[in-house]
Amino acid sequence: MNTNVGLLEALAPQAPDALLALIGMYAADFRPGKIDVGVGVYKTATGTTPVFGAVKAAERLLLDEQSTKAYLGPEGNIGFFTSLTNLVFGVRDFQSRLTGLQTPGGTGALRLAAELIALAKPGARILVGTPTWPNHMSILTTTGLEIVNYRYFDAATQTLCFDKLMSALDEAEHGDVVLLQGSCHNPVGIDLSEAQWLLVAKRMAERGLLPLLDLAYQGLGSGLDADALGTRIVFDYVGEALLAYSCDKNFGLYRERTGALFALSRNAAAASITQSNLLMLARANWSMPPDHGAAAVRLILESDALTLQWRTELEMMQQRIVEVRNCLADLDPWFEPFRNQQGMFSMLPLNPDQVRVLREQHAVYMAGSGRVNLAGLTRQSAALFATAIAAVR
Ligand SMILES: Cc1ncc(COP(=O)(O)O)c(C=O)c1O
Repeated sequence: MNTNVGLLEALAPQAPDALLALIGMYAADFRPGKIDVGVGVYKTATGTTPVFGAVKAAERLLLDEQSTKAYLGPEGNIGFFTSLTNLVFGVRDFQSRLTGLQTPGGTGALRLAAELIALAKPGARILVGTPTWPNHMSILTTTGLEIVNYRYFDAATQTLCFDKLMSALDEAEHGDVVLLQGSCHNPVGIDLSEAQWLLVAKRMAERGLLPLLDLAYQGLGSGLDADALGTRIVFDYVGEALLAYSCDKNFGLYRERTGALFALSRNAAAASITQSNLLMLARANWSMPPDHGAAAVRLILESDALTLQWRTELEMMQQRIVEVRNCLADLDPWFEPFRNQQGMFSMLPLNPDQVRVLREQHAVYMAGSGRVNLAGLTRQSAALFATAIAAVR
């Protein structure tokens, strides 16, 4: 036995997160007029990511009224989960089959969902449309699930490959899982229409597939109800479903790690078993989720005045994104498809070399994939951005 070789030396080096590296390069660039469309957070027209007024108000209440920091439990803040259930689903008739819990962000919810699936069916296959949020791949592979890719989006035509999605569903086997983003698709900004959601939900139900939905941007696309429509349709149709939800964008809580995992089971008895497994997995992962963000969201959703304030602020953000989309399309017809896409992200048909030239020669910073965060632009910088893109494409 060689005692000079450490166990950890068996590990292979991992590539650093490309977006974090981009943040570093942007910070080190002193050219005036540099443009950041790389980082995936909402920004105002002045380039900041402020705390929502409604969140500040809820935090003030918390500071005054919170009387203990004692443990809550692996399910987290139950009032938060109940209020969020109403926000996401409205009044539904599957309430007795629906369980779930608070999680550390949408990422925590996805992790728990993947672990629940692996527990029920080790090595389960999961259909993932490409491109998708890169962390989906990391979460699913490190949980031991088998990823089956199909093409979701064609960058050249800026269209959804709906036929590829339907064929993937047709080729899937009973018990396979289907990962779908609820709205404001990251990175491509193209979502299913209501008619497409109905077809997909019906096909998943017929073929015995388990939907795993990811809703991370409710309210940033077309409004709170419209953005939850696909999720509601799927949950209405199928026997079993999972939903990973993030409050980190639509409440601006990013670092507070606020989210939830919802699970729909076939009947109330099965729901209680699902819940017991979720609680066990949460306990084994983080024991209990962080409280602060969820406590603030609960206060907002339980107060008519704070809810109104939050909705108004969220609508302003949504409208600003729509304005930037329209502004780009007005500036150059090449951006016309952006007009009807949803949420903060769109994906340009650019190769990594063009992305590099944009960074080096035009001080435009974007992900190597060509994903752009439109909230990184203003009316003025949109014109510079459009000119830079025209120069490289
Ligand atoms: C599609 C998608 N799902 C989930 C998440 C996770 O969000 P959170 O920051 O709450 O973990 C993100 C965050 O960028 C996302 O884009």
